[in-house]
Amino acid sequence: MGGYTLAMNFTTLGRTGLLVSKMGLGCGGHSRLGLATGKDEANAISVVHKALERGINFIDTAESYKTEIAVGKALVLAKTPRESVVISTKLGPKSGESFSTKSAFKTRFEGNLTRLQTDYVDLLNLHGVTTDEYAYCQSELVPALLELRDEGKVRFLGITEAFGPDPQHAMLGPAVANDSCWDVVMVGFNILNQSARERVLAHTQAKNIGTLCMFAVRRVLSNPDALKTLLAELVASGQLPDEALTVFPEGDTTQRAYQFCRDEPGIDIVLSGTGNPAHLEANAQALMGPPMPPHQRETLMRVFQGLDSVSGN
Ligand SMILES: NC(=O)c1ccc[n+]([C@@H]2O[C@H](COP(=O)([O-])OP(=O)(O)OC[C@H]3O[C@@H](n4cnc5c(N)ncnc54)[C@H](OP(=O)(O)O)[C@@H]3O)[C@@H](O)[C@H]2O)c1
Repeated sequence: MGGYTLAMNFTTLGRTGLLVSKMGLGCGGHSRLGLATGKDEANAISVVHKALERGINFIDTAESYKTEIAVGKALVLAKTPRESVVISTKLGPKSGESFSTKSAFKTRFEGNLTRLQTDYVDLLNLHGVTTDEYAYCQSELVPALLELRDEGKVRFLGITEAFGPDPQHAMLGPAVANDSCWDVVMVGFNILNQSARERVLAHTQAKNIGTLCMFAVRRVLSNPDALKTLLAELVASGQLPDEALTVFPEGDTTQRAYQFCRDEPGIDIVLSGTGNPAHLEANAQALMGPPMPPHQRETLMRVFQGLDSVSGN
């Protein structure tokens, strides 16, 4: 840590009581630690090591990302004491086209533990759940999660939404409003789509549910040309005011996008997904720096309020 001028910020992850870094390492998305963009496992391990060196203690992975093996190896190579890192992983309700039974789900989870080289995870999330899948998850898979918790293999239970196809939080909004089993949720939120503020974060704050923010940047907010094209389309179709074309000065969009999410009341951890150690460093600098000036934040809230049709993917 020597030589760094800014220190990582920490917070409590809702009712789990876990002390976690405000920046979490996302091992999925379009990069998957670089494994999805042609980089090798040694690079993936170096990204995890860079995150640990930067003070990040929250790592999010999943069965489907195929990054659990790299995460497990990185933690072993770094000789990271198990209790000093918070491991979050996920399992989708389906294996292939079919729902997993309760016992098949528990068997699949043994694979997560093996790949991560650990005998427990801090957080097990049902992954990318849609409204159609939610009732099955409640009746068949929550009992599996509770058994895994009782067996000491999982400390806390979470659920993540499928923000790409569900940018309006049709699954997660009612789930946090009505059910009490979720200790932590992962929600899509960014400058372009702030609809989680009312539909999800109001409930998580009232119930002290921990929150993980995904899609802070994703494709559009990390690519100035893609952003320009999307904003032009949204203005042309009347979904955004003309002012949307001028609120992003050149140059610092990605950093501002991460800061905007970090500063949102009710968001505990902002996940940053990258396969590039230099990007991780830049994102850590942004997330460890001062808040966005209030007038900039207010402008972004005003211009994009009411837009809930895009994810930024
Ligand atoms: N339903 C779900 O459960 C679900 C869905 C999506 C994501 N997630 C989780 O949320 C995490 C975060 O989502 P995400 O991975 O899409 O992350 P993100 O942080 O919103 O966006 C990451 C994308 O932006 C690029 N990027 C990052 N920093 C950059 C920088 N400084 N300059 C330019 N480009 C930059 C990355 O490419 P480079 O590799 O080139 O940096 C990557 O393609 C995932 O990793 C995953 O853990 C969960």
